[in-house]
Amino acid sequence: MAAHPASLNDVRVLDRERWLDGPPHELFKELRTNCPLHWTSEITEFPLEKGFWSITRPEDIAAVSRDWETYSSELGGVTAVSESIFPIELSRAMFIGMDPPKHDRIKQLFQKGFTPKRIAEHEDEIRAIVVGVLDRLEGRAEADLVSEVAQPVVARVIGSFMGIPDDDDITWARLMNNLLGAGEEELDTSAIPAAIERDIGELFQRCQSLIAERRERPTDDLTSVLVHAEVDGQRLEEHEIVMGFFLLMAAGNDSTKATYCSAMRALMEDPDQRQILLDDPSLVPSAVEEALRMFPAFAHFRRTATKDTELGGCPIHKGDKVVMWYVSSNRDEEKFDNPDRFDVRREPNEHQAFGAGGRHFCLGTALARLELNILIEETLKHFPRMKLAGTPEHVEAQFVNQLRSLPVQLH
Ligand code: HEM
Repeated sequence: MAAHPASLNDVRVLDRERWLDGPPHELFKELRTNCPLHWTSEITEFPLEKGFWSITRPEDIAAVSRDWETYSSELGGVTAVSESIFPIELSRAMFIGMDPPKHDRIKQLFQKGFTPKRIAEHEDEIRAIVVGVLDRLEGRAEADLVSEVAQPVVARVIGSFMGIPDDDDITWARLMNNLLGAGEEELDTSAIPAAIERDIGELFQRCQSLIAERRERPTDDLTSVLVHAEVDGQRLEEHEIVMGFFLLMAAGNDSTKATYCSAMRALMEDPDQRQILLDDPSLVPSAVEEALRMFPAFAHFRRTATKDTELGGCPIHKGDKVVMWYVSSNRDEEKFDNPDRFDVRREPNEHQAFGAGGRHFCLGTALARLELNILIEETLKHFPRMKLAGTPEHVEAQFVNQLRSLPVQLH
C-alpha cells in the first residue's frame, strides 16, 4: 500500500459526527490527495460490521464499477453498512443486488419501460404535475422546498409512471423514506429490523394487488409493461416485479428530490449563477449536470471482492468491502477545475452521480434528467427571486445525500 500520513490510519470514514452537515468534503479531499484507497477498520455505530475500503478517485471507481466479476453486488449487499440495516436477502432480491447473468436478464426486461420514447412521452404530464404543485404556493410568503415541492412532485411522477393512484402517494413516500433512511436518527438500532419487516410487508401487499389488477386489465403504465414484458420468450416472475417495483419507487422518490433541493439551495446561495440561468434558460440542462456532480443523491455504493486482487497498488482480499464514494470522485481536483464551485456552465462535466458505467449504471437517468430540468425551469419561472429563509438541515446519513428541510422566502 502507498505510504500516507499516519494521521489517516485511524480515521473511520463513516463516523456519524463527520456527517452531521452532509458529506465530509475536507476529509475526502485529504484522502484523494494522500490516501486515495483508504481502509476503515471498524464502523463505530455497528461494531459487528466488517471494515471497508474507501475508493475516492474517479478512475479507481470506474475500474471497480466495470469489473463485476471481481467486485460483486450480490455477495455482500450494495451499501457500506450491510448486515446491520438492510437484510441481505432483500438486497439480493432486487436486480441492483444481483450479479450477471441474473441481473442482466431482469434489467433487460425493465429497460422496456425506460426507452427514451416512453420517457419523452411523459414530459407534458410531468410539467403539469410540477406546475400544479408550484401553483399551490401562490399567495404564500414562505415554504419548505423539500416537503412542499420536491416530495409531492417526485412521489406523483413516479406514482403516475407506475400506475399508483394519487391518494396513495403519501403512504408510498412514507414507506420508501422509512426503508431508505433506516438507521438515520434511530437511537435504538436493534429496533430497525422489526420496522423494516413491518414496512416491507405492507409494501408487498400493495404491490401484489396492483400487479394482479394489471394482469386482468392492462393499461399503459409501467406496471403493465413489466407484467407483460417479454425477452426471448421469458417473462418476469411476480416476486421479480414486486422487488423491481420497490427498487424503482425507492430510486424515484428520493434521488431526484435530493438533487433538486441541493440545486435550488446552490442557486440561492449564488445569485450570480441563478441570474445566468434566468437570462438563458437553455443552460438549465447544464445546471442539472452540475447539481448531479456536486451533490450526488447517493453518497456511495458498495461492492464485495470475489477474489484476492489489487487496486491502485493496494492489495484487496477476497470478501473485502469496497465502497465507491461518488461524493468524493465528483469533486476530484484532477478531473474538475475548481471542483467545489457550482458552475452552471461547466463543460465537460463527466460526473459519476449515476454510477461509473458498468452493469449497474442507473436505469432512471433519462427520467431523472427530464424531471430535474422541468422542476428547476418551472421553479425559476414561478419564483425568480426566491431566497433562503433559514438554515437548511441535512439528513444525517452516509448513504443518501439529501436535505431534510429547505426553508425559503418565495418572493
Ligand atoms: C437524480 C436522480 C438519480 C440518481 C443520482 C441515481 C443514481 C443511481 C446510482 C448511483 C445507481 C447505482 C450505480 C452503480 O451501483 O453502479 C443507480 C442505480 C439505479 N437507479 Fe438511479 N438514480 C437516480 C434516479 C433514478 C430514477 C428516477 C430511477 C427510476 C425510476 C432510477 C432507477 C435506478 C435503478 C433501477 C438502478 C439499479 C440499476 C442496476 O442495478 O442495474 N434511478 N442510480
